[in-house]
Amino acid sequence: MNPVADVKGKHILITGGGSGIGAASARLLSERGALVGVADLNLDNAQNVVEEIQSSGGKAYAVAVDVTSPEQVKGMFDSAFAQAAKIDVIINNAGIDHMPAPLTEVDDAMFMKNLQVNLAGVWYCMKNALTHMTATGGGHIINIASVAGLRSAPMISAYSASKHGVIGLTKSAAVEYARANIRINAVCPSFVDTPMVQGVLARMDERGRKGLIGANPMKRLGKPQEIANAIAWLCSDESSFMTGQAVVLDGGMLA
Ligand SMILES: NC(=O)c1ccc[n+]([C@@H]2O[C@H](COP(=O)([O-])OP(=O)(O)OC[C@H]3O[C@@H](n4cnc5c(N)ncnc54)[C@H](O)[C@@H]3O)[C@@H](O)[C@H]2O)c1
Repeated sequence: MNPVADVKGKHILITGGGSGIGAASARLLSERGALVGVADLNLDNAQNVVEEIQSSGGKAYAVAVDVTSPEQVKGMFDSAFAQAAKIDVIINNAGIDHMPAPLTEVDDAMFMKNLQVNLAGVWYCMKNALTHMTATGGGHIINIASVAGLRSAPMISAYSASKHGVIGLTKSAAVEYARANIRINAVCPSFVDTPMVQGVLARMDERGRKGLIGANPMKRLGKPQEIANAIAWLCSDESSFMTGQAVVLDGGMLA
């Protein structure tokens, strides 16, 4: 048995698996023997991750999904069930952000879009997962939130509101479903070096970039692999007594 965060034989579905934290998690979990469903709005990216995994001998499949659509989320679960009868873990990772700006300058459509993708998307996936896991005797839901869901996040108010919501959903549902053998936890990174953050950095001046990269005591961005390592441990049975938590990986930002 692999002694470290063993996920061998588990079926793990990841939304937003075509890029950044989701792709790093898909690669790591498949290296450790899981069957990984890589679901993304961008099917080409999901397929690239799957091809990479398969060419290294891992097991994975790609699914197209827009998590803001309840019908497409249901379709994603149907595609996952065509691969294996049970889903052990779902990682609700698909997300978007918005350009930093004072609240009055964030337009209403962008506020609603952040809520639709980051919060309603998690809601739809949780509903399907909970129904399925209740029927199959248990499972684990891992929601990727953010430090912006735990404390103030000036200039990214819409994003912060959506991530606070994800942590609320995580905690409430964890208590509701603990007796059904379903664990629900959140992961809260600070800034991580992914296309999402690179997109923000590219639109900032030098001072802004320095401020964002140095926003934690380690004075660096997190690496996607560092978040994936924690996700892998959560996916394993080593985290079996843990539910309703928001796990922080932030280079000391909240300390
Ligand atoms: N990068 C960071 O600094 C950071 C920090 C804290 C939390 N997070 C969270 O981690 C998660 C992953 O972020 P990332 O940095 O890897 O970003 P990313 O942009 O690299 O990846 C996000 C993925 O989500 C997909 N996606 C977007 N909208 C979707 C939709 N409607 N349906 C399905 N898929 C959709 C994108 O196509 C993309 O592949 C997000 O929830 C993000 O909020 C990121």
